[in-house]
Formats: sequence, C-alpha cells, structure tokens
Amino acid sequence: MKNAVIITYGCQMNVNESAKIKKILQNMGYNITEEISEADAVFLNTCTVREGAATQIYGKLGELKAVREKRGTIIGITGCFAQEQGEDLAKKFPIIDIVMGNQNIGKIPTALEKIESGDFKHVIYTGEEDDLPPRLDADFDSKKTASIPITYGCNNFCTYCIVPYVRGRERSVPMGQILDEVKTFVEKGYKEIMLLGQNVNSYGNDLATGENFAILLEEICKIEGEFLVRFISPHPKDFADDVMDVIAKNEKIARCLHLPLQSGSTKILKLMNRKYTKEQYMELAAKIKRRVPGVSLTADIIVGFPNETEEDFLDTLDVVEKIGFESAYMFMYSPRKGTAAAIMDGQLDQEVKKERLQRLIDLQNRKSREASDTYKDKIERVLVEGPSRKNENVLTGRTSTNKVVLFAGDKELEGTFVNVKINDCKTWSLYGEIVNE
Ligand code: SAH
Ligand code: SF4
Ligand code: F3S
Repeated sequence: MKNAVIITYGCQMNVNESAKIKKILQNMGYNITEEISEADAVFLNTCTVREGAATQIYGKLGELKAVREKRGTIIGITGCFAQEQGEDLAKKFPIIDIVMGNQNIGKIPTALEKIESGDFKHVIYTGEEDDLPPRLDADFDSKKTASIPITYGCNNFCTYCIVPYVRGRERSVPMGQILDEVKTFVEKGYKEIMLLGQNVNSYGNDLATGENFAILLEEICKIEGEFLVRFISPHPKDFADDVMDVIAKNEKIARCLHLPLQSGSTKILKLMNRKYTKEQYMELAAKIKRRVPGVSLTADIIVGFPNETEEDFLDTLDVVEKIGFESAYMFMYSPRKGTAAAIMDGQLDQEVKKERLQRLIDLQNRKSREASDTYKDKIERVLVEGPSRKNENVLTGRTSTNKVVLFAGDKELEGTFVNVKINDCKTWSLYGEIVNE
C-alpha cells in the first residue's frame, strides 16, 4: 500500500480542503500517515495570507529532499500559495511535481497518473476551469467538528488582503446542498458544524433564489439532532439584524461571534477599504451583545498598517478596551505583492509594528483574563471533546462561547453535551465539575 502525507497551513478553509484531499487520496488506495520518511506522496496545502509562508514551505521542501531521493516521493503543492505562484514554483524548485489551486484538487488523480507515467516534468493546474473544489463526503480529524464551505472567494478587496486574488470572486453554494451536507454530518455523529466563507453574511448575494445567510441559518437549525452551529467569518459591514434575531432565537447557534475589527481607527479602516467606521463597529458590537445575550465576541486585528500613527493605534486599543473581546488573533501588517496597500506610501518600520503588536497583546491578554473571570460559578453546557492530554481522568470540552473547560468525568461522555459548573477561571481555560440539571 502506498502512503501519503498531507501538511496543512492557513485557515479553516484549507483544513476543510485537506480533508477532501485526504478523501481523494484514500479513494485512490493511499494510506494517510504523518510519517514523511515513509511517504510516497506528500501534499503541502499552503497559505499566503502573510509573508513567512514562503520560508516555511521552502524549509519543508528541504526536509523532503531525502525521502524523495530514497523513495521517489511525489511532491504536490496545493492551496493559496500554489495558486499565487503557479508554474514559477515548480520551475524554481524542480523537486515539486504538482502545483494546483484548491479549486482544482479534483484533478489530483489525473496529476498523480501523469507524474507516475514519467512523461511529464511537472503538472500545473491553477486554472479556473474547475471553479469549485469537489464536495466530497470528507471525514475530519476532529471527530466532533465538521466544516462546510458555504461561499468560495471574496469580493471585498480589503487593501491588505491577497485572498480575493487567489480565491477568486465570491460564489455561494446552493442552499439545498449545504443542508444535505449538514444532515449527513449530523447523522455521522458530528456535534459541531462550522460554516465557512470569507464573508459568510454575504451568502446568497450571487444566487437568484433570494436565499441569504439568515435564511440558511434558520433552515440549518430546523435539522433534527443535538448539534452546535458556528461560522467564520461575518464582515461587520454586512451584519444584518435578521441574523442577530435568528441567533438569539436558536440555541443551536453558538454564542460566539468572530467579528474581524482589523483596526479601531476610522482613518485606517478607510485606507483598508473596510467600509465601516470605528463608531459603526462599536455600535454593531453593542447591538449584538444586546440582542444576543451571553454572546462572546472575538476579532482579528492588524497593527502597523501603512500610515497608522500612534493616535490611530490608540483608537485600536480603545476599541479593544471598551468591547472586551474574549480573544483575538493579532497580526503585524504584512505587505502582499499585488495588493493596494503594498504600494501605499507610509509603510512602517518593523520595530514600530512589533512594539504595537506587543502592547496590543498585553491589553488583549488582560481583557481575555477579565472575560474568563465572568464564568465563575456559572453552569455551562459543554461539548465533551475527550480526555485531556495530561490526565485521562480529566475531560476537556468547549462551551457554546468556545471557551475550553476541564473537568473530571468518564471518557464515555466524549461527543456528548454535559452541564458543567465553573469553579475556577484561568485566562485560556476554565475548571469545573459536571452537575445534573
Ligand atoms: N475573510 C476573513 C479572513 C481573512 S484572512 C475575514 O475577512 O475576516 C484572516 C486574517 O488575516 C484577516 O482577518 C486579517 O486580520 C489577517 N490578514 C490578512 N491579510 C493580512 C496582511 N496582509 N497582513 C497582516 N494580516 C493580514
Ligand atoms: Fe480578505 Fe477582506 Fe475578503 Fe476577508 S473580507 S478575505 S480580509 S478581502
Ligand atoms: Fe491563507 Fe488562503 Fe486561508 S491565503 S488564510 S489559506 S484563504
């Protein structure tokens, strides 16, 4: 039997597509392993959202040299970095056999056949002819969480972002297909369904059927079974009131909203082409908290965007202080070739970016700690993920707000929902005991 290794970088969309690549390879008879030294094929599913991806991938290619020499391992590069670089990548690194964008992964069998035939130096599929990645009944490494793309691509062109260039224009998946997939995963026993899109709340804009994100959520909640629905990411500019109402009404939708802020400065937001102001973002966050009691908010934040002054940065800190995100992904601005921001005047020094990032992280850590403390003595419904890494008599799970909870319990409870009373709160995890209600 032949072995294949899949290494995944980047976002949940890539995690989802790696699960599909895995299925395609298994259908071809490959055994999936993590052992590079035994691999007959290796696929690197790449990301290019920030610089650094390239170095990481070149490093990995270096590691693959030995096994390729020994076993003739076929090396494929998929994902956004592959889409961006195209054939150049294979020319630069002759050890690469296959370069393909993620809309082309259905062609993996053809590509492998061509390489195995020995007639091709390399095979490149980054064209748009396939348009959407195949929708396979994939299995996920996490036995609790399955993800489902609801839109592909993005139309927003935030000036810092490469995604619209590598993932193309926004395309919504027909609602019937999404509902069928949710049903399949729920029947298979998945307890958490993660809906994916670059801008989930513009779902349906390109469909002639009048479907939108609120309707989609409502229909998903009608599906029988005990499961939680999560989604990433909504765009603040498109967050309609009806979505808040659907969330408030439906216990099945997680009490956790990821609301990418990017910057707290209206001036910078304008330069970023985000289409909202500091005040509009703050009002939206307040409104969501009012309408969806108990919701926790998380965010993505960029520091050091071109022309960001100390005053602009203080606006970001101000929003973080006032809103109190439960957690945040925080990044230094990273210029991406081909994007509008990369050629803007006013690029900042790395030192300034670093210093601001550290101050933001310090503040956010304090806010995360404060958010954590609010759980004390509360009873939370927790999805049990399984025994904790350190102690098999201790279970780990997550609340509807996505907070990690540790508690004593039998591992038979894995994959079920239990009520846990929170006794102790640390910044990143809560400690409690199962209670019967
Ligand atoms: N479509 C999603 C996610 C996009 S990429 C959204 O709009 O939220 C994930 C995150 O990476 C972004 O939210 C942003 O914070 C960050 N990011 C994207 N491009 C970046 C860049 N050039 N430099 C630094 N961070 C970036
Ligand atoms: Fe990038 Fe903006 Fe689209 Fe998100 S919404 S993928 S940040 S362009
Ligand atoms: Fe990276 Fe592509 Fe996702 S660039 S963040 S893998 S959409």
